[in-house]
Amino acid sequence: MNREKRIDPFAPHSIGKLHLKNRFALAPMTRISASIDGIPSEKMLQYYKSFAEGGFGLIITEGTYIDDKYSQTYQYQPGIVFEKHIEGWKKIQEAIHESGAKAIMQIQHSGALSQGNYYSTKTIAPSAIKPLGKQLEFYHGKGEYQTPSEATLSEIEQIKSAFVKAAINAQKAGFDGVEIHGANGYFLDQFLSSYTNLRTDQYGGSFENRVRLLTEVIKDVRENVKPEFIVGIRISQGKVNDYHHKWEGINEAEIIFNELTGAGIDYLHITEFNAALPAFNQKQPDDERVPSLALLAKKITGLPILSNGSIDSIESVNHMLNSEESDFVTIGKAALANHNFPILLKNRQETQQFDSEKILRPFADLKDFEYSNN
Ligand SMILES: Cc1cc2nc3c(=O)[nH]c(=O)nc-3n(C[C@H](O)[C@H](O)[C@H](O)COP(=O)(O)O)c2cc1C
Repeated sequence: MNREKRIDPFAPHSIGKLHLKNRFALAPMTRISASIDGIPSEKMLQYYKSFAEGGFGLIITEGTYIDDKYSQTYQYQPGIVFEKHIEGWKKIQEAIHESGAKAIMQIQHSGALSQGNYYSTKTIAPSAIKPLGKQLEFYHGKGEYQTPSEATLSEIEQIKSAFVKAAINAQKAGFDGVEIHGANGYFLDQFLSSYTNLRTDQYGGSFENRVRLLTEVIKDVRENVKPEFIVGIRISQGKVNDYHHKWEGINEAEIIFNELTGAGIDYLHITEFNAALPAFNQKQPDDERVPSLALLAKKITGLPILSNGSIDSIESVNHMLNSEESDFVTIGKAALANHNFPILLKNRQETQQFDSEKILRPFADLKDFEYSNN
């Protein structure tokens, strides 16, 4: 490690024109605590505010659904479709900003993984393939997923428009940007993976075709929001219903990263189970160490990289920043256990272990202690 280039995780840094007070971001985490029709609640406001007060420079919200058709993934998930949603999020954004952090909304379409949609019982996906695995019980799911219908080209157009509308609504609500959810097995990721995408049109087949919809969504969103409004994307190999899925090696990663960069994205949010580990098992021709997915993304794109996955100590934060693998770290479970994670690390204080039983069971909704003086 080059000592002269040591990065201070507590010093300011920017994504495009968005100035952030440090390198710590809250990872997006669905907590099913909106009203049944998707209005963000007062407890969500207190919950998000506590992370901003706890020293996070950036808050990325939970995945938020984008239309009143098939995008909603979980019951009590918030939406960004109607005026009532915009109003609710406006208050949350204000509370985050007043506490000194910036706010990016994650916008999401569930595709085949929907398991609680207020507006529809049908699901749609690139192809009519029943998802692997079982529905998530802590989000009120039960049993197997249903088999989705194959999205028609006009439905795909509608979904692209819905992403644009959602971004415009997030901008209206006062957010600094949006993060398009292209990860974890949801709709856009279902296009990326060959086993969930059997299409024979322009959206299926080659790597370039499978990443096409992601690039079209990015371009359309970019064109319809203000230039300074941040448009990021989150991508991953693993999925909520298939943790161990891997892309087809560095070749596929290169195509994906190049296409996303060409579409005009402001940042890439890379999530892996452990951000620092080699991305693939494959050996390099010159037998070098296989890079982490974040490092690969950084080398190929030169874009701001947000890294996520098992970053839960000052050592892992420093590693991800100083090894030039990422520009920001996003913290998930360690943040749930310590809403003031950046402050604790800065003061070299002890952090609490994440207790999934206490926080996410029986259901993943917000618990009293998470929105009242954590
Ligand atoms: C309760 C919970 C909800 C999550 N919801 C989302 C989500 O809405 N969108 C998303 O992209 N990732 C979601 N994730 C994944 C996290 O953002 C993160 O990738 C994961 O927790 C691994 O990071 P960590 O090791 O820091 O916890 C969720 C994770 C948890 C624990």
